[in-house]
Amino acid sequence: MDFKTIVNGPGGLAAVAADTLLVVLVGNAVPEGLDKPLSAALAAAVSQGDFVFKAGHSLVLHGAAGIKASRLAFVAAASASPKHFRNAVVAGVTALKSGGTRHLAVALAGSDDLDDAHAQALVAAVSDTVYVYRHTKPSAPAPSALAKVSLVCAKAQSAGIAGGLLHGAGVAEGVALARECANRPANHCTPSFLAAEAKRLGKEFGLKVEVLERKDCEKLGMGSFLAVAQGSHEAPKFIVMRYQGAAKTEAPIVLVGKGITFDTGGISIKPAGEMDEMKFDMGGAASVLGTMRAVAQLKPKVNLIGIVPACENMPDGRAVKPGDVVTSMSGQTIEILNTDAEGRLILCDALTYAERFKPAVVVDIATLTGACVIALGHQRTGLFAPDDALAAELLAAGERGLDPAWRMPLDEEYDDGLKSNFADMGNVGPRPGGAITAAMFLKRFTAKLNWAHLDVAGTAWKSGAAKGATGRPVPLLTQFVLSRAS
Ligand code: BES
Ligand code: MN
Ligand code: ZN
Repeated sequence: MDFKTIVNGPGGLAAVAADTLLVVLVGNAVPEGLDKPLSAALAAAVSQGDFVFKAGHSLVLHGAAGIKASRLAFVAAASASPKHFRNAVVAGVTALKSGGTRHLAVALAGSDDLDDAHAQALVAAVSDTVYVYRHTKPSAPAPSALAKVSLVCAKAQSAGIAGGLLHGAGVAEGVALARECANRPANHCTPSFLAAEAKRLGKEFGLKVEVLERKDCEKLGMGSFLAVAQGSHEAPKFIVMRYQGAAKTEAPIVLVGKGITFDTGGISIKPAGEMDEMKFDMGGAASVLGTMRAVAQLKPKVNLIGIVPACENMPDGRAVKPGDVVTSMSGQTIEILNTDAEGRLILCDALTYAERFKPAVVVDIATLTGACVIALGHQRTGLFAPDDALAAELLAAGERGLDPAWRMPLDEEYDDGLKSNFADMGNVGPRPGGAITAAMFLKRFTAKLNWAHLDVAGTAWKSGAAKGATGRPVPLLTQFVLSRAS
């Protein structure tokens, strides 16, 4: 899809050449200064009870008098903020979705503060709304006819907005890739599939991609990662992707994504209800692939490495058992008290592996704990970082990308739960504060790193009628990487 600006000319919105003109309305009355033909159409709809100024309400008119676009749509926004603008565009595009619009023009009425954040929000809203999963569903609706989206703006705003649209388009491609990977069922999206996707991205965008096999991981001493992988017939893959946008000497940002392509819990098996959703347990990995794609397209002057430890967590005759002790790549031993706490077991070796890149910063992304969903619900990602400056940077990137996170604590007292009589640590603590204990476990492998951890268990996918991957936190991560570019 193409995203462009249209500079509002002398004819005003009535003269905008597009199939459909979607006007986002702020306030609770027909905005002053709205072009005559539009305000006439809107006032008539309001007086006849067909439109109310309530966020999300929309109206589609055909052949409105004096308007060049053949469809005129209105949608109400709660405010002119980028977030509310996004929500309104989602509502508007949903109302138009199955229609024949090829070129959509969007305008914000009732406010002058349109900027690059609105442009990013527009691209995210449209791309997210038209995405349809179809890989294993031939009966899915036909792809949207929408080929071009324009944001109507004033001449003075257009340079900034064009930049926002470009950024938004890169993020949107990354989000779509992350959603597509995570939505595919675990018999399609295997560790080998993720490795092939990484290689395909590498070819398309000139990224260096290396895939370590089981024997390579054995040589490196990744006893913790391999303990999780040993219960599955699917070959584990340890994927390393590199984007070089700055001098080789510049320390890279490293992203580490949990790539459990299916989490049964292992011998500590999960209950059957909703277990299908554990195909999304590679959401962190998907967000790393998506961010690599976004960054490779946007080409910031920064070095970025994506690491994905990928395997299945299965019960099997060869599977790791509760009480088994394994030696991680760091040399620290782990008593695996619960085989369902497998995410931290694959991440710890990936974090140790990341040390070799002498990174400026390492961020891991994982659908790590049900406890994080209880703590924060499905709105905000859990953010853990010992360093205040890094925490602030990631929080700001989340706000900016409309992909928000919330900082969680890492007090040393939370570490007590990880004590083991038989190893340097256990892999689980008490149930209360489970998201924090999981982060404390990872922290034990980050002594040499400037590290942050994102628990996306509540934000990487939706359950229920809208079941599906969200592509989060690709917007946060891309914003973070771009804000670090020189
Ligand atoms: N992948 C799950 C976390 C998860 C659970 C994400 C539910 C989203 C929804 C993770 O591997 C897991 O099973 N965690 C356990 C940890 C526990 C055994 C300490 C959990 O959260 O129950
Ligand atoms: Mn698990
Ligand atoms: Zn898991």
